[in-house]
Amino acid sequence: MIRYSKVLGTGGYLPAEVRTNEQISETVDTSDSWIFERTGIKSRRIAGPDETASSMAEIAARQALEAAGCEPDAVDLIIVATGSPEYVYPSTACLLQQRLGINNAAAFDLQAACSGSIFAMSIADQYIKSGAAKKVLIVGSEICSRIVDWTDRSTCILFGDGAGALLLGASDELGVLSTHIHSDGEFEDLLYCANPQAATGEKRNEPGYINMRGNEVFKVAVNTLGRIVDETLEANNMDKSEIDWLVPHQANIRIIMATAKKLKMSMDQVVVTLEHQGNTSSASVLLAFNEAVRDGRIKRGQVVLLEAFGAGFTWGSAIIKY
Ligand code: COA
Repeated sequence: MIRYSKVLGTGGYLPAEVRTNEQISETVDTSDSWIFERTGIKSRRIAGPDETASSMAEIAARQALEAAGCEPDAVDLIIVATGSPEYVYPSTACLLQQRLGINNAAAFDLQAACSGSIFAMSIADQYIKSGAAKKVLIVGSEICSRIVDWTDRSTCILFGDGAGALLLGASDELGVLSTHIHSDGEFEDLLYCANPQAATGEKRNEPGYINMRGNEVFKVAVNTLGRIVDETLEANNMDKSEIDWLVPHQANIRIIMATAKKLKMSMDQVVVTLEHQGNTSSASVLLAFNEAVRDGRIKRGQVVLLEAFGAGFTWGSAIIKY
């Protein structure tokens, strides 16, 4: 019998505080119209002082488990994608495991910046298809607000906080059709967040904030996402018209529109959460997917293309029959 991996449940969490473009305009030289026109963002959520990547991950994870009707101790692998962990170690995945009160699963963090959730789906899919795991909990959780420089108008306007989760499980029904992940380490300086304590040279004296050459990142992102769409369709011998939904990483509405255009998809078939969430990095695709599943847009049996691009550079896609 062929073994597939299928989405069993999804979850998401957004912290309560809303920070609008107008509020940011009070502290840095920018405006609501500049931010909205260039990015598509109007507001983002900001985690409270007691929240962490693992506390938010727990809420999203419990929701995904509940949606799947799965007890936490049935999970045999936990993968957390985050670029804003509270510790270097133990991993956020181990902290999440502790919060879920289980100790029989392997748990680790994955660092692929904004592409983390797609990389996690790819690993989970291989584990399930090979028979090495039956249920894999994937979480993307980010407190970007603590790693952005709130005096840098070119980055602080972009990011937001939140967590998304997805439970992937073994099934004899078709689910994940394929995943495709790539990296190119040549682009280190276009987008990075240093860890000053462990860095050398100039990076040792930096405060450890997100540092980005946005315009250059933008161009690579558009081209690269175009290529990953082609690769995904070719690998499955599929036509653009067979895709029901695009769930893209939420970095910039202009990047999303370029991918939708490439797929000849109407924006009605694209899940966009950017306007009120900003870029939540590794949480963004999972949050968007969860939202569209829960509000009934994405239905069982439909074909969904998820894609992301992030620091590294890293990029990837997952195409699934939901
Ligand atoms: N408000 C007002 N002006 C701003 C601004 C802000 N918040 N941020 C930058 N500017 C200014 C710049 O200083 C620059 O001014 P200058 O022409 O006088 O030098 C001008 O706006 C244009 O800057 P540029 O960086 O070329 O703008 P852009 O159109 O590329 O938009 C981003 C900037 C960041 C919105 C856009 O490049 C982007 O979204 N990049 C990709 C982001 C991404 O995908 N990131 C991560 C992947 S996970």
